[in-house]
Amino acid sequence: MKILVVGGGGREHAIIKKIKENKNVEKIYALPGNGGMAEDAECVDIGAKDIDKIVEFAKANSIDYAIVAPDDPLVLGCVDALEAVGIPAFGPKANAAIIEGSKVFSKDLMKKYGIPTAGYEVFDDMNKALEYLETAPIPTVIKADGLALGKGVIIALTRDEARQAVKSMMEDKVFGASGDHVVIEEFLEGPEVSVLSFTDGKIVVPMISSMDHKRAGDNDTGLNTGGMGTVAPNPYYTNAIAAECMEKIFLPTIEAMNKEGRTFKGCLYFGLMLTKNGPKVIEYNCRFGDPETQVVLPLLESDLLEIMMAVTEERLSETEVRFSDKNACCVIMASDGYPVKYDKGLELTIPDEVKDKVYVAGAKIADGKLVTNGGRVLGCTAVAPTLKEAIEDAYKIVDKVHFDNEYYRHDIGQRALKATV
Ligand code: AMP
Ligand code: GLY
Repeated sequence: MKILVVGGGGREHAIIKKIKENKNVEKIYALPGNGGMAEDAECVDIGAKDIDKIVEFAKANSIDYAIVAPDDPLVLGCVDALEAVGIPAFGPKANAAIIEGSKVFSKDLMKKYGIPTAGYEVFDDMNKALEYLETAPIPTVIKADGLALGKGVIIALTRDEARQAVKSMMEDKVFGASGDHVVIEEFLEGPEVSVLSFTDGKIVVPMISSMDHKRAGDNDTGLNTGGMGTVAPNPYYTNAIAAECMEKIFLPTIEAMNKEGRTFKGCLYFGLMLTKNGPKVIEYNCRFGDPETQVVLPLLESDLLEIMMAVTEERLSETEVRFSDKNACCVIMASDGYPVKYDKGLELTIPDEVKDKVYVAGAKIADGKLVTNGGRVLGCTAVAPTLKEAIEDAYKIVDKVHFDNEYYRHDIGQRALKATV
């Protein structure tokens, strides 16, 4: 089979490494991929948002199955466009990807169907939003409606910060048109859990739970990032909580999307907060998480491609989805200065002995050498019987990988480790 993967980060590298295990796979193309995954897939210089070129390439190269990994092409209708020319693809259609593409849509969906989430109000008029803030409980959370590159969420600890956030989104348009509508929501507290799930619109099969580390600095300090590391499973996510989430969140969401005529097929990511009033949805993503995928897929014992094709063909209930009972830890190595300002083009060394445990996100080949080409450069993942060993082993891989301005957190998994004792 010839497979096409749309996207080019660490998540896509993890997906590619996993589907390579299927013996029917003869060729994998990554659009655009990155230089760090060139040994695992043929990288083609077509951007993940260039839907017309993606479809053209897929037709010209007789692609048997496509996997659309990032949010942008999903929201833009990449799966619809591929299916329109007869190429089956993993991922939701645009009318279902809206569950991530619009926060107003997802909040209204949860309200309509009684799915637990933070209380909220939606505003399209800045003055009304500011008026509401005069009496809103503080801290409060301000969210721009659209994708906003994952940065459109501001936790305001004071009333003044909240006013500034609303003005920057609605007046200064720092997130562009995403700021035309803002959601102001109740601040929730509790451990966060990421649950990625497979769904074919009929059933939902959660993957092993995980924990992201979003802040740039040790002990959860500094700016929010795309994620500095992950562990799986998440020790806060007990069997009892999993059962409650299935009943109150996962199945109701799938059913709600069906009732809205927006059947979701693909990977639906539930960002949950375990509050003292029970689990609540913080956000939905219409795709695999990054860097959650880099710990979840190494623990998947079943065949990923088989599962994905079963999702597309709506026969997920007949397919085995089995996870190992081991633990995984992924430490992200970034360029110093990320997420603000950082150098690129520094030579990157990944020794052969650790290559199968390294997922490259931001690298390219220049003059025959692998060099850094992004803020988050790569993730080092270890799998071990215990969380403690997985953490230790992940940092041993980190020690073997080198580039000049490398930066990483030293405490990935420590909070989870404390929760297990
Ligand atoms: P995002 O950028 O959408 O991935 O989310 C940003 C982060 O903001 C989440 O991971 C949470 O830690 C936090 N967050 C979002 N909504 C809330 C809320 N209602 N209460 C508390 N924290 C929140
Ligand atoms: N790790 C969070 C996300 O993928 O959105």
